[in-house]
Amino acid sequence: MAEHEIDEHSGVATTGHEWDGIKELNNPLPRWWVWTFYACVAFSVVWWVLMPTWPGISGYTKGVLGYTQRATVAKEMAALNESRSASMQQLDNVNTIADVENNPELLQYTMAAGASLFGDNCATCHGSGGQGGPGYPNLNDDDWIWGGTFADIKQTITYGIRSGHPEARFNTMQAYGRDGVLSEDQIGDLVEYVLALSGEQADPAAVERAAVTFEQVCAACHGADGKGNHLLGSPNLTDAIWLYGGERATIYATLKNGRAGVMPTWAGRLTSDQITALAVYVHSLGGGE
Ligand code: HEC
Ligand code: HEC
Repeated sequence: MAEHEIDEHSGVATTGHEWDGIKELNNPLPRWWVWTFYACVAFSVVWWVLMPTWPGISGYTKGVLGYTQRATVAKEMAALNESRSASMQQLDNVNTIADVENNPELLQYTMAAGASLFGDNCATCHGSGGQGGPGYPNLNDDDWIWGGTFADIKQTITYGIRSGHPEARFNTMQAYGRDGVLSEDQIGDLVEYVLALSGEQADPAAVERAAVTFEQVCAACHGADGKGNHLLGSPNLTDAIWLYGGERATIYATLKNGRAGVMPTWAGRLTSDQITALAVYVHSLGGGE
């Protein structure tokens, strides 16, 4: 009999459930709610058919539209490449610095692209203006370790220096002291010799004593005149521009413990167009060769 009891306050039938004298009204669900619910059910059925949805044991239902996120990304990448500015594509055909310099519009574009790539990838080591620091060469001066032609710079950026890439530039400044190749006395004299090479105050007697050692040991890479060799990546010791430093203590440390600066390879990390833009930019910084 409780099923049909009418609530005396609202005039609505109750469900017959009762807890501690509290009874439940039998109100119908709001119409808008019911229709939304049915619409969602219908939508989900359509979605299951069209899109990948249900997981299975060895895969999932693919859906008749064949949608995958991977394919979407691939399509977006293709569109991006397509929209790559005509200027960037022109860099495909740049083989010499003149190819860019003779085309003012391309030059302007390339310099802007190069500056921005430099800020993103190179400034951490070489400084935001390419001014470098101890161990990291200044790219603004016209002094190059591995060569300052467009082709040299491009090769350096592409493969790096002692980067581990098989094509990387490589040469060794040995630890002459630590390896026991030269005695402390010989190293002390050579420090004076190197100072003299770059026009610094040096002990003349020591310079004289070191001359033979320099010729026998150091000249192979740095040249008899100490002017260095781009092909060997051996710095010019006569120009008072230092990679590691020209103070007595620093030169001593170089001779005692050796040096092996590492510049990463960018092949595979940057496109060849991006590397070309960087080479043009760096070439312009140093007033390249
Ligand atoms: C992780 C630090 C590091 C980063 C990043 C780096 N470099 Fe270098 N780079 C070096 C070091 C160290 C050397 C010197 C290696 C040596 O001792 O010969 C060098 C050398 C060079 C040289 C040769 C200079 C010369 O006198 O021959 C060029 C050119 C150069 N870097 C350009 C770049 C460009 C362009 C980028 C960005 C794409 C870059 N570097 C990013 C560390 C770095
Ligand atoms: C096998 C080749 C080779 C020989 C031999 C050699 N060097 Fe070097 N030297 C180099 C290279 C390469 C560098 C640069 C290392 C780097 O970039 O990290 C260098 C760097 C230096 C530097 C640091 C220059 C700077 O700008 O900070 C000094 C100083 C130097 N060498 C002196 C000597 C002296 C003195 C000898 C003889 C005892 C000698 N080297 C023998 C290859 C050589």
